Order: sequence, then C-alpha cells, then structure tokens
Amino acid sequence: MKGLVLSGGKGTRLRPITYTSAKQLVPVANKPVLFRVIEAIRDAGISDIGIVIGDTGDEIRAAVGTGRQWGVRITYIPQDAPLGLAHAVKISQEFIGDERFVMFLGDNCIQGGISPLIEQFGKSDYNAQIVLKKVADPRSFGVAELDDDGRIARLVEKPREPRSDLALVGIYMFDHHIFEAVNSIKPSPRGELEITDAIQWLVHTGRTVFPYLHEGWWIDTGKKDDMLEANRLILEEMPAANFGYVDRNSQVIGKVIIEAGAEVINSTIRGPAIIGEHTRILNSYIGPFTSIYHHCLVEESEIEHSIVLEHSSIRSLPHRLEDSLIGRNVEVARSPLKPKAYRLLLGDNSTVGML
Ligand code: TTP
Repeated sequence: MKGLVLSGGKGTRLRPITYTSAKQLVPVANKPVLFRVIEAIRDAGISDIGIVIGDTGDEIRAAVGTGRQWGVRITYIPQDAPLGLAHAVKISQEFIGDERFVMFLGDNCIQGGISPLIEQFGKSDYNAQIVLKKVADPRSFGVAELDDDGRIARLVEKPREPRSDLALVGIYMFDHHIFEAVNSIKPSPRGELEITDAIQWLVHTGRTVFPYLHEGWWIDTGKKDDMLEANRLILEEMPAANFGYVDRNSQVIGKVIIEAGAEVINSTIRGPAIIGEHTRILNSYIGPFTSIYHHCLVEESEIEHSIVLEHSSIRSLPHRLEDSLIGRNVEVARSPLKPKAYRLLLGDNSTVGML
C-alpha cells in the first residue's frame, strides 16, 4: 500500500499565519501536524508516501526532505492550484499506479494512529473505505448515510437536515477505481473536484464502499481554535520529561515537557505544557495546554491555553495571554512609551482581542 498526504490548499481560515507559511507545518505540542501525519502512516507500515503540494511547496520540501528521518520515501506531487481533494487524487495517479492507498489530509490529527484501519482495508476486497466519526452536530461536515448492509449509500456535504451523525474524517482508503471516478466527475458549484462526488460515483457504479468507524478523537486543524484543541488533546497524552534546566526558584507542576536547551527561571509551569528547545521562561507563569516552540522568550508574563511559534517573544504583559496562536518572529511586549496606547503592526486578517 502507498500513502498520499494532501498539503496544498490555500489555508484561508488560518490567515495571517498562512500568508507566509504552510498550515500543515504549524506545530501542535511542538511538532508540525504534517510530521504527525507522516508518522501515523509510517507506523501503519507504509513507507512509500506522496505529498501533494501547492504554493507552500518549497517550505514543505525543506521541512520534510526525502523522508529519511522517518525511514520513509517521499515523492512530491505539485498541484498547480487547489482545485479540490479529488483533483489532488487525479494528479497522483502516476505515483499511485495500481496500488491500494490511504489518503490523509495533511492538516488532520487522529488519536491512536491509523494502523487498525489500514489493517482492515488491507485484508478486505473493498474498493474504498472511508473513516467516519460520530459527531454531535453533523451540519458542518460531510455526512455519510449507510444502507441496511452497513455500506455507504450516500454522502452529503454540510446537510441542513442530516440523516445520520456520521461525519467524514479526512482519511480515505481507495483502490485504483478511484481514478476512474475522479476522471468522470465534474467540478462542483465552488469550482472544485469534490472527493465526496468521487466516492458517490463509486457507490453509483456498484463499487463496494464501506465505512470505518473511528472511536477516538479527530481534529481538522483548519482554524485557530481547532489547532488549540488538537494541542490540548495531544499534550494530555504526552508523558512528562525534562531535558532542559529548571532553577530552584521555579515550580513545575503536572505533565510538563521541557526540551533540550530550554531554561525555566523563577517561573511556574503548570502542565500539560511543553517548552521548546532553547526557549527561556523568565519570571513567568505558563499555564495548562500551552506549547511554546523553540528559541522563544517569555519574560514577566502569563500564558495559558496557547501556541507560540518559534523565535517569538512575549514580555512584560500586564494581563494573561489566553486562547492565542502567535506566529513566528512575533514580539508582544508592554511598551513604556508615553502616551499610554496600543501600538500595533499587524498583518492582514489578524485578530486581536483587547481588554
Ligand atoms: P481544506 O482545509 O479543505 O482547504 P484549505 O487548505 O484550502 O483551507 P481553507 O478552507 O481554510 O482555505 O484542505 C484540506 C487539506 O487538503 C489541507 O491539508 C490542504 C489540502 N488540499 C490540497 O492539497 N489540494 C486541494 O486542492 C485542496 C482543496 C486541499
């Protein structure tokens, strides 16, 4: 079996982060989501992985390389424009050939990996199997309806009146019939070749499409709050570890990971939390569900339930920072300048919540 990871797309919902960077490379619990996807596929025994890339392709190539660090072989498949998930499949035909494959959206996180589903699909003669998850409100998802034999009967995108609570998770398994499907369907009203239409085409032409019900959590990290939620869930599952330095005046409580070269001075860290390599925490409080990436500085400040990307600094804040996603090379600091005022240099589509 082969793996296909989709890492093109526009990432409009995560602007301004995605103006300068691929959303799949935003770290949750200090590891890019895309790296977690590659590891999940590798751990399921698949070593031949194609990655569909778009405008941020160079950055993804630079971060992932040949795949050697994971013991896998990566092939990059450039997509001229984000014309849909089924379009991404279409342009990957040469890479996949006649093999069965798993397709994984490069911005999705799933609890417990994908080995059980790969095993089930590998043993079956299904033409396709799609991963579903029961959700409380299916109206914002692709929703699957099953027939009496438990097969997929119909897929509906964001139904106003859902007939089931089974949402499509961004993981799909296919055999070569999917190429016939993606070459037969037409673009949807939003101009994309939809994977739901391609799967529906398989059902209509008599192919066997079965569901795989996923029991654990699953997060599509397309928006800030989803990133924070994935961060929270992953941090909760990580064991404590200290590879850095914590001085005697500091308190580290609960599950906290301190990476190599990090320093915690006169501060309190209440886990679950992770402090990245060569990051300094000085006279500060880091609260639960916070990930501070590498080479950051947090001084005289309090942060909770947030993600801070590399090379950023947070200094002398008069109030606690919460529920925030801070990009790379960002400086947030109290200003001594008079008159007392907010002084901001924000990118387009930034969001700031003031007191
Ligand atoms: P989406 O999150 O559906 O789309 P997007 O990344 O463009 O984000 P937004 O809606 O905020 O603008 O995409 C899911 C994943 O699939 C994501 O990792 C990007 C990838 N993708 C492609 O590789 N090619 C495509 O044509 C599309 C639509 C998405």
